[in-house]
Amino acid sequence: MAIDFAGRNVLITGGGSGIGLACAESFAAAGAQIAIAEADEERCAGFAARFPEALVVPCDVTDRADIRKLAERIGEWTGALDVLVNNVGHFLHAKPFDALDDEEIDAIVEINFGQVMRVTRAMLPLLRAAAPGSSIVNITSIEAFRGIPNCAVYGAAKAAVTGLTQSLALELAPAGIRINAVAPETTDTPQVPLDYMIPPENRAHMDKWIPLGRFGHAADSAGAALYLASPLAAWVTGTTVHVDGGALAAAGWMRTPDGQWTVTPMISGNGVSLGG
Ligand SMILES: NC(=O)c1ccc[n+]([C@@H]2O[C@H](COP(=O)([O-])OP(=O)(O)OC[C@H]3O[C@@H](n4cnc5c(N)ncnc54)[C@H](O)[C@@H]3O)[C@@H](O)[C@H]2O)c1
Repeated sequence: MAIDFAGRNVLITGGGSGIGLACAESFAAAGAQIAIAEADEERCAGFAARFPEALVVPCDVTDRADIRKLAERIGEWTGALDVLVNNVGHFLHAKPFDALDDEEIDAIVEINFGQVMRVTRAMLPLLRAAAPGSSIVNITSIEAFRGIPNCAVYGAAKAAVTGLTQSLALELAPAGIRINAVAPETTDTPQVPLDYMIPPENRAHMDKWIPLGRFGHAADSAGAALYLASPLAAWVTGTTVHVDGGALAAAGWMRTPDGQWTVTPMISGNGVSLGG
């Protein structure tokens, strides 16, 4: 069965860059009508120039009034929504847990979890209008399934999205609405630019750190989102696809330059530019 989204409407939050943009490209290539909710003005303009048929809603999804307006715009646009991709998220502050202040903690929880609940609830009448067969895809993180030092609140908020995905799968199944998640490992995007995150002296080891030999491309996660929203996944709900090159399975195992497996670090420093 080929994946065909002709005549179907897809809303992607944060569709102006990275994984969200790759989702827009993939769904558009499969024939969907695309809408994005995007906070960055330049990215909105760039997207509108590239996809003149798309609906571009300048919007901050952490702002409740903006979410209400977004739901109105999508309602006027199509009256129903086939696919919602909750893609916005950010680690925001990479520092030890006890160095975070309350405002920073609230902001991390809001951008990774709070707005996902609010956007989903605001779009549910439109998803119900397109049901049965409509679906939600949440972009979480591989960090929802393992610990991440200096990003504890981010990891916890992403794990909360896993819980929401599981419970809502049950609530929405009788209406014929599916909900699943995509959990990427480190993926080269404007938020996680690998040229900066992985210093040159450590890039030589990239092919040894992850079983499939490289970090992620935004299109890797977009492919999983496209599958999960498609009829190919008609019997799939409440679950997560780990788009991680096998990193979670490896759980710390990596290869040495001569091809042996080790759990012993081979690098100096911490290997990334996220702070100690
Ligand atoms: N890149 C990675 O390595 C990686 C790994 C795991 C999970 N993720 C998750 O994937 C998702 C996408 O990440 P990315 O790396 O593509 O990020 P990105 O920063 O490249 O893209 C995010 C987009 O969302 C927009 N945005 C940010 N805040 C917004 C808001 N409040 N309202 C509306 N739009 C907003 C940004 O302008 C940007 O266009 C996030 O949920 C992130 O946590 C990314």
